[in-house]
Amino acid sequence: MAEPQRDIKKISFTGDGQGHFKTFYDLPYAKELYDLTTEKRLDYEDISKSERRKIIPLFEARHKSTISVIKQIVKEKGIRQILDMGSGLSGVGLIMTDLYPDLIFIEVDLPEMIEKKETAVYMINKKLRKSTNLYFFPGDVRDSNEVQKAIAPFDLNKPSIVIMEGLFSYYDDSDKIKILENAKKIQGRDGYIITPDPSMDSNRRKIFKILNVEESARQVAEKAGRSFERHGFQNEELTDEFFKNQGFRVEKFRPEDYTMNSFKNLDIDKVTEKILKDDIKKNAKVWVLKIAP
Ligand SMILES: C[S@@+](CC[C@H](N)C(=O)[O-])C[C@H]1O[C@@H](n2cnc3c(N)ncnc32)[C@H](O)[C@@H]1O
Repeated sequence: MAEPQRDIKKISFTGDGQGHFKTFYDLPYAKELYDLTTEKRLDYEDISKSERRKIIPLFEARHKSTISVIKQIVKEKGIRQILDMGSGLSGVGLIMTDLYPDLIFIEVDLPEMIEKKETAVYMINKKLRKSTNLYFFPGDVRDSNEVQKAIAPFDLNKPSIVIMEGLFSYYDDSDKIKILENAKKIQGRDGYIITPDPSMDSNRRKIFKILNVEESARQVAEKAGRSFERHGFQNEELTDEFFKNQGFRVEKFRPEDYTMNSFKNLDIDKVTEKILKDDIKKNAKVWVLKIAP
């Protein structure tokens, strides 16, 4: 049985953390979104204070590769409907609706997170005197009724893109399957699911040990009420097999058309920078799932 919402509420803490990390990437809206939503920021910042600089570039690469793949698919396939499951404090919705004013972008997250996000986006848009096709829905993406309600603004005869960034890692296989089933109904035959989450599988998390940041990672998992051993993906081979068993055709991309800014913004030492760059080159992959023919 699915865990009740009160038990998964703690996961939103990781959304605040990612919102904090994003302030080092030099992407539009990141600082405003974090400042407008996170009053009590010390929790996350304290946990990772001494070590965060070593982890942040990994997430910068994950985020920027994902944005790059989203942009590429939107441009090539002309898709104009995107659902972001577990959008947290990500600015992708604002970035994409700025680029394509006719694009409908829907964000779903747990109630507390989505409420503060919606207020922040309202304030940002008001200040910039703009309006966007950006919608917000409080809900649990494992619940098909809630997801169906969330996508009311979509035309289901048209293909959609469903994004999950940093969501799968908190759920075991049975919940992952529920989320994928819900996404499948929305994407349609010509749509796509885009997720970088398998790139943070157990294999890759070995880098936390190399960087000596295992304790921070453990504390984050504990605060989120999750365990990296029980949740998340194991390795690339098993992940691909898992997606194929759920009826998907799997493609993987490793874009290189983005600049990394956190190295300079965090004043990272050269040795750590080299370790991170090597890892990112090999591992910052994005999975693109289509319904198999
Ligand atoms: C690690 S954060 C990632 C946020 C954002 N995608 C990003 O890249 O910055 C995970 C997010 O998923 C949300 N989340 C977790 N479980 C969820 C669920 N069952 N339904 C909706 N949102 C969920 C959390 O509240 C949190 O905001």
